[in-house]
Amino acid sequence: ADRQDRRVAVFGAGYIGLVTGACLAELGHRVVVRDIDPGKVRTLQAGDVPIYEPGLGDMIARNKERLRFTLDIGEALEGAEVAYVCVDTPPSVSGDADLSRVWSVVRSLAGAAHLRAVVVKSTVPVGTGARARAALDEAGLTGTGYVSNPEFTAEGRAVSDFMHPDRIVIGADDPAAGALVAELHEGIDAPVVTMDVRSAEMVKLAANALLATRISFANEIATLCENTGADVTEVLGAVGLDHRLGPHFLRPGIGWGGSCFPKDSEALRQLASNTGFHPMLLSAVIDVNNIQKRRAIQRLKDVLGDLAGREIALLGMAFKPGTDDMREAPSTVLASRLAAEGAHVRCWDPLARHDKAEPWLSATRYASPEEAMGGADAAVVVTEWPQLKDVDWTRAATAMRQPVLFDGRNLLDPVRMRELGFTYMSVGRP
Ligand code: UGA
Repeated sequence: ADRQDRRVAVFGAGYIGLVTGACLAELGHRVVVRDIDPGKVRTLQAGDVPIYEPGLGDMIARNKERLRFTLDIGEALEGAEVAYVCVDTPPSVSGDADLSRVWSVVRSLAGAAHLRAVVVKSTVPVGTGARARAALDEAGLTGTGYVSNPEFTAEGRAVSDFMHPDRIVIGADDPAAGALVAELHEGIDAPVVTMDVRSAEMVKLAANALLATRISFANEIATLCENTGADVTEVLGAVGLDHRLGPHFLRPGIGWGGSCFPKDSEALRQLASNTGFHPMLLSAVIDVNNIQKRRAIQRLKDVLGDLAGREIALLGMAFKPGTDDMREAPSTVLASRLAAEGAHVRCWDPLARHDKAEPWLSATRYASPEEAMGGADAAVVVTEWPQLKDVDWTRAATAMRQPVLFDGRNLLDPVRMRELGFTYMSVGRP
């Protein structure tokens, strides 16, 4: 095959699989994405995209000659040189990642000895590659290399992160397979870092743990600022100007959530304890994050007293702006805690679907932030959607039963909000 015209099978049509498949097609390869969900495959075959990700729909549409979707394993594998595993690895009850979907894909590769590389993009515990190697050998794929190629894409910018990454990490048990996977990325301007499989698996977990650590650190400093009268925005702004530290991932807030940080930090902690080691720092990072969400409820109680019967508006439900993803969103924790306290929860979000998350079943959905706040006893900015800056806060203050506002993302100006009559609280700012 021509260098930029490889045949690639992608297993899993979730966030990672769709972005990987679309971007590989964009790079010139012929890609077949296989999923077990007939509804999802039908949607994709009809030209629709089942998830919200900027640029993804256009990229899929413009590469439709090179990008197909199927339920059929045989169709996906026919002529394929490389198989990507992009299925999800949710936490199991024990905290270990549940790899059953990964193993089911690996088993389904039996007989596809024409594959030159099997690439795992899903986040997996260190050591998974070794187990996969054994499974591939058992399936007769002794000549197929195993490659760990973790992704570092953030939701809402996944397409751009894939095409313009900071680095491409490739851990291969066979140099030829590693080289082939590096070659698939030709056209992308980024350093390719090659290493052993276990190290590549660890890079992903360590990177996410350090990002989560920075946020928990920022949240702890924010609390200290509240207790001492300092302003966390000033403090961390100046701290981040140190080139050794940098400004990113130092925004305090209501805690980190999403499909990655909570799951990956828990999986890393579990991985550590499986080796007989208690990771003290990582455990504290997770604890600080849980406390951060509880503190939001406490601060409402400090102002309102008993929350029973109170109407509380949650502004923003997605775990961050720019996505419809509710997985491990701080809003779900707040909603269930508020409901447990007897409060009536109202919510607004421009994208997220609250029927997807259980704690929301008792919450009432409103079409706009203003409507959610009308008659409420308090409102909480949970997700920093830019739309919230444009709310008519003057009217909101008078339409609320009590103008109590907890800005969990430091989105609004404290001086202005207090001028408008709000009892305004934010994170780490006087
Ligand atoms: C994260 C990482 O940023 C990606 O590099 C990684 O590839 C991805 O996980 C993954 O493992 O797949 P993502 O979960 O999409 O990406 O979202 P982030 O933008 O990192 O935000 C995570 C959470 O941290 C959000 O709840 C966000 O509100 C919070 N956050 C982020 C803060 O509270 N403060 C900050 O300064 C930054």
